[in-house]
Amino acid sequence: MAGIYIHIPFCKQSCSYCDFHFSTSLKNKTDLVSGIVTEIANRKEQLTNKINTIYFGGGTPSLLTGDDLKRIVESIYKNYIVASNIEFTLECNPDDLTQKKLQELEGSGVNRLSIGVQSFNNNELEFFNRAHNSNEAEASIKRSQDVGFENITIDLIYGSPISTDNIWLDNLQKIATFNVPHLSAYGLTVEPKTKLAHQIELGQLPKLNDEKMIRQFKMLIEKTTTFGMTQYEVSNFGKEGFYSQHNSNYWKGEQYLGIGPSAHSYIAEKRVWNVANNIKYIKALNNNECYFEEEDIDEKTAFNEYVLTRLRTIWGVDLDYIQTNFNKKLNAHFQKEIKHYLNSSYLQTDNNKITLTQEGIFIADKITSDLFYI
Ligand SMILES: C[S@@+](CC[C@H](N)C(=O)[O-])C[C@H]1O[C@@H](n2cnc3c(N)ncnc32)[C@H](O)[C@@H]1O
Ligand code: SF4
Repeated sequence: MAGIYIHIPFCKQSCSYCDFHFSTSLKNKTDLVSGIVTEIANRKEQLTNKINTIYFGGGTPSLLTGDDLKRIVESIYKNYIVASNIEFTLECNPDDLTQKKLQELEGSGVNRLSIGVQSFNNNELEFFNRAHNSNEAEASIKRSQDVGFENITIDLIYGSPISTDNIWLDNLQKIATFNVPHLSAYGLTVEPKTKLAHQIELGQLPKLNDEKMIRQFKMLIEKTTTFGMTQYEVSNFGKEGFYSQHNSNYWKGEQYLGIGPSAHSYIAEKRVWNVANNIKYIKALNNNECYFEEEDIDEKTAFNEYVLTRLRTIWGVDLDYIQTNFNKKLNAHFQKEIKHYLNSSYLQTDNNKITLTQEGIFIADKITSDLFYI
């Protein structure tokens, strides 16, 4: 099992909360696509396993033209062994999803759409500085389904200063209305240097309300359960057969190659991260220079990453895995720290697997940080 992630670092406009790597100037897009095509070919020796998942993330991959997409996809198929039943996801913004665009995506092999709705409420969308309105969000889902996409996930954000419990319930209700089989829902996070952070620093906006955040997280869990979805990761909810294979592979520690500026890879016990600057990335690839940094993953880091990712999922932390794969010191640390939680109502054990309870999900970050080996 292995995956390829392609980062497309362009957006029409900046959303007020976002600190992902992107540029709102599209003038280098063709050169950047050429850089990506070169990087794909250059790294083919690094990943010789069969590729089961391809994921285009961003930024806004739906800004790629049919031609851009074709060049990248052809390069992947030319240089790697790709499974015939590949899961091929592309993140899209609702305002890009015209009939023509959807047909291009389908023609390029995309079989899973991740639509960045964030909210169906116009005031909230304006507050986020999104490029779409509520009608466009609804129409994009409907149009995608009409073109034939069944495997659709949407992104929603809760806990914003605009959001009320009723707005949030209305947002959640749309999942059922449109029969969307997968949802990623994130509590709004204030990232440093974003417009949202400045507004709060200047006192133009109140600090985020923690109580509202927890209340809306509870509503999210309750509602999605009634829709027949499983919370298979703290922020991810899916119907049977629609869990994200690409993200599940990350969480299960499978290898992946990250291509494009700012993309991260996990290959052969190493973490690699590419430069988060479009011009530097393009120049380095043109001149055959280095565009990444890398570090070996030591045992302590591997342990922390294993606990962090697995505890957030329904697959949980495997006690046998910890015993077999980590040294005595790490095992002793884990046994000591976990004891207190296993006697609480926050964690549960079944068949040597430790998972969060319904109560534990609300303090997942605190538990993982307590289990970390520092
Ligand atoms: C970086 S975006 C890329 C996808 C696409 N450009 C979009 O905006 O829909 C991935 C997702 O991360 C989430 N996200 C980004 N920044 C966030 C923040 N500060 N707080 C909560 N969610 C955030 C949003 O739900 C977004 O859809
Ligand atoms: S949330 Fe998506 S569209 Fe908005 S700035 Fe971030 S990457 Fe771009």
